[in-house]
Amino acid sequence: MAVDWYRHLNEALGPILIDAETIRNRVGELGRQITADYRGKTPHLIAILKGATVFHADLVRAISVGVSFDFMAVASYGSAVKSSGEVRILKDLDESVEGKDVLLVEDILDTGLTLHYLWENLVSRSPRSLAVATLLSKPSRRQIAVNADYVGFDVPDKFVVGYGLDFDQRYRNLPYICELILPPGIIANP
Ligand code: IMP
Ligand code: MG
Repeated sequence: MAVDWYRHLNEALGPILIDAETIRNRVGELGRQITADYRGKTPHLIAILKGATVFHADLVRAISVGVSFDFMAVASYGSAVKSSGEVRILKDLDESVEGKDVLLVEDILDTGLTLHYLWENLVSRSPRSLAVATLLSKPSRRQIAVNADYVGFDVPDKFVVGYGLDFDQRYRNLPYICELILPPGIIANP
């Protein structure tokens, strides 16, 4: 498995792309925007494990209408080099979303394949509304058109870690978003 192979390689942290204060300010703005948009409603936030947990934890505290939340874990089928777009549910929701104003919380929109699958899957469960909040988006990598209502930052086509995002489960606890420099020939994106 490629992941074991990575352990012997020396990836290195590159420049900080988005520092902690910039993230904090932007998450605050998104929270205020969501608060205004959901006035009189109780958004049901669904955070996608594990990458979105850090963003979700800060975002919910920046929202000042009542919320409820749930979690879902997914993994994409496919090789290390190319995602097939087929997604497997590792942990499903605890509660039904029927009739709820669902706000999906993602860490990063890359090819868009994961979000496309999640969108179709959630729509089939009859929420009253469905919207998407993502901390990061890499528009240049998109393979399928997906809509995100709340986007923290657009980032260039670089592999990034921190603030929930990992490489081989590492770096999720960095308080900023940082570029990860991989040895030549190593492809981190699924
Ligand atoms: P998509 O289906 O290609 O949009 O993939 C989205 C998923 O790939 C995210 O939820 C991340 O787990 C992972 N991913 C994509 N780009 C990065 C990155 O730059 N750093 C860390 N994880 C990434
Ligand atoms: Mg990941």
